[in-house]
Amino acid sequence: MKDKIKEIQRSAIEEIAQASDAEALEKARVKYLGRKGLITELFKSMGGVSPADRAEVGKLINSLKETATKAVDEKAPSLSGGRDLKVQKTDITLPGISREIGHRHPISKTIEEICGVFISLGFKVVEGPEIENEHYNFEALNIPLEHPSRDAFDTFYLADKWLLRSHTSPVQARFMEKNKPPFSIVIPGKVYRPDATDASHSFMFHQVEGLVVSDNIKFSDLKGALTLFAKQMFGESTRMRFRPSFFPFTEPSAEVDISCILCSGKEVRDAQGAIHRCSLCGGKGWIEILGAGMVNPKVFKNVGYNPEKVTGFAFGMGVERIAILKYGITDIRMFFENDIRFLRQF
Ligand code: PHE
Repeated sequence: MKDKIKEIQRSAIEEIAQASDAEALEKARVKYLGRKGLITELFKSMGGVSPADRAEVGKLINSLKETATKAVDEKAPSLSGGRDLKVQKTDITLPGISREIGHRHPISKTIEEICGVFISLGFKVVEGPEIENEHYNFEALNIPLEHPSRDAFDTFYLADKWLLRSHTSPVQARFMEKNKPPFSIVIPGKVYRPDATDASHSFMFHQVEGLVVSDNIKFSDLKGALTLFAKQMFGESTRMRFRPSFFPFTEPSAEVDISCILCSGKEVRDAQGAIHRCSLCGGKGWIEILGAGMVNPKVFKNVGYNPEKVTGFAFGMGVERIAILKYGITDIRMFFENDIRFLRQF
């Protein structure tokens, strides 16, 4: 027994002395002085010591305990963190600091919702680069240099022929060059235009482009897909209107309106019987949501398709515009200010 005490004393002193940080010291303390520590165990085994030796052994263990406790106390302040173990009073029963869990941005949610409708129709999601060159942003899409239509796609130019894409349409050309029809794709992404920022303009916004190419695609297919989209997005009672328009990469082209989601095109009168202008559509009853058309055969030729053999439709919509209409948001800048009071509402 006495040998055992001596051995424990030797190893305890050695381990305490060698502890190089507070953690190691605490480990040594628990090993020897803890509730189930070696020294505590020695006390417990006193019962087996003969009555004659008991007093002496008891003294030895007591002195071992004192020595070890003193060694720990003296060592503690000098260790990394300088913590004195005796004054370390961490209440581990206190509740922790909980972090707020975020969620998707309203723009991401709207993109997912738009793409979701088309995915359910069998479309695949495709992406392309935000830094583009003039060829894909313009030429491949039948927008020649000096053509006035190029002004409609005001552009941030970078060095050489590079630019920040002003629409998602260049991904149409990139995809067609690498893939053969038939296919149906949607292309979500950021686009950039040097517009002065105000409640309805931002130098950066998002679009979702659509492109379907096969051997017998008709305008009625375009109408069908977009009508289904509008009803899913804005409700079953939503009506559509196609107005003739112009885009160099589609022929014929259309601008597509939905019936106003606020007034449904119905006359609104106040209590006195006076007609009220709808604050959303201005009394027109219609709201423009996207541009679309049948893919121009020149675009097919530019990407190496035979325009006699393939047909297709394309459309492009602004995501912020869709989100603004859907959620009744009054200022596009709110999407990008990162004000938590705005974002947490979605
Ligand atoms: N790229 C056009 C725009 O940004 C939208 C569009 C896409 C129109 C596809 C027709 C077909 O305004």
